[in-house]
Amino acid sequence: MNRSVANPSSGSKSSASHAPGSQTRRIILTGDTPTGQLHLGHYVGSVKRRVELQDTHECYFIIANLHAYTTRADKPDEIRRDCLEIVRDHLAMGIDPRKATIFLQSEIPAIAELTFLFAMLLPFNRVMRNPTLKDEIKVKGLGENYSFGFPLYAVGQTADILSFRAHGVPVGEDQVPHLELTREVARRFNQMYCGVSDKTDDDDHVKLGGVFPIPKADVGKVGRLVGIDGVNKMSKSLNNAIFITDTPKQVQSKIGKIFTGRQSPTAPGDPNNALFQYVETFIPDPARVAELKDRYKRGDNIGDGHIKAEVADALNKLLEPMRQRRKQYEGNDQPILDILKEGSARAIETTEKTLALAKDAARFGFFKRRIAYDNR
Ligand code: TRP
Repeated sequence: MNRSVANPSSGSKSSASHAPGSQTRRIILTGDTPTGQLHLGHYVGSVKRRVELQDTHECYFIIANLHAYTTRADKPDEIRRDCLEIVRDHLAMGIDPRKATIFLQSEIPAIAELTFLFAMLLPFNRVMRNPTLKDEIKVKGLGENYSFGFPLYAVGQTADILSFRAHGVPVGEDQVPHLELTREVARRFNQMYCGVSDKTDDDDHVKLGGVFPIPKADVGKVGRLVGIDGVNKMSKSLNNAIFITDTPKQVQSKIGKIFTGRQSPTAPGDPNNALFQYVETFIPDPARVAELKDRYKRGDNIGDGHIKAEVADALNKLLEPMRQRRKQYEGNDQPILDILKEGSARAIETTEKTLALAKDAARFGFFKRRIAYDNR
């Protein structure tokens, strides 16, 4: 690299894990296919967890832009725009590029190279048995008409993770089959090329000479935030989402739309309804949550309108700093591109080391190389 590449952990003063004698930090890799604006469901389902992890772990967050080409290869400008928008949302939600490394998948040659090799370690019909792929084929109505690259993306995702030799992968439930595939590839590689025995415990692979740790999925608590329709998972395409760019008024009006079917403030309410998922997720004081729940259950003169106002208030308190931060990044692409370039440079450093180890192990490590950006 031409610029000095900062150590990804150097910005995190709160972590003493690089102090002499302390253990190296565990490596986290996760990320998203860029598909448009992030909403509250993304925040509680995954980004919030990443904001916590960036203080304690060596975190890499991938913008999986090549995966967007599996079904939208004809919309390259949209994909490019979505990459920048998702970074703006992440920054707004509290991801700090001085603590974590945010990078573009397409900038990392090792990912593409390892994908090619890993594709040889997986039987074709094993890839096609992946339930998440099958689901996507159904939901997106792809039928028989998907590209060769569509199932290949699942193999690519194993390379996204393994090229960082990640230990943990925080993801939603739907990604667990991809993690299972990743664990199989890692085991097979270590057994085939590094002399690790097929009796070896997953946790001992690296100790016994394997290149790849066997990574674990870390499935979050709030897997699924219900949308304001009160029925379906929050999703942009279902028109039931709250965005961080919504104004306080829009938030109030959206929360006001959550349907509960309750008739009056003295009717006993169901504290498991959609409205109460919001109460539990967004009202920060547990004592207040318990009190609201209790009064709601008993129909103790507490109207849905009152509860909605409290939820909207709590949400706006959460969102306001995000809106402010997001504004700083709007209208100018250069700072976003700078973050992605620096992050990608760091990711190249990490993954080139892994790639060299993997090539040596698989006996095609012929020559050493350096990859550099041309900063002219
Ligand atoms: N498939 C993931 C999604 O659609 C995105 C992704 C790509 C990913 N590579 C990854 C997630 C590696 C975790 C780890 O959301």
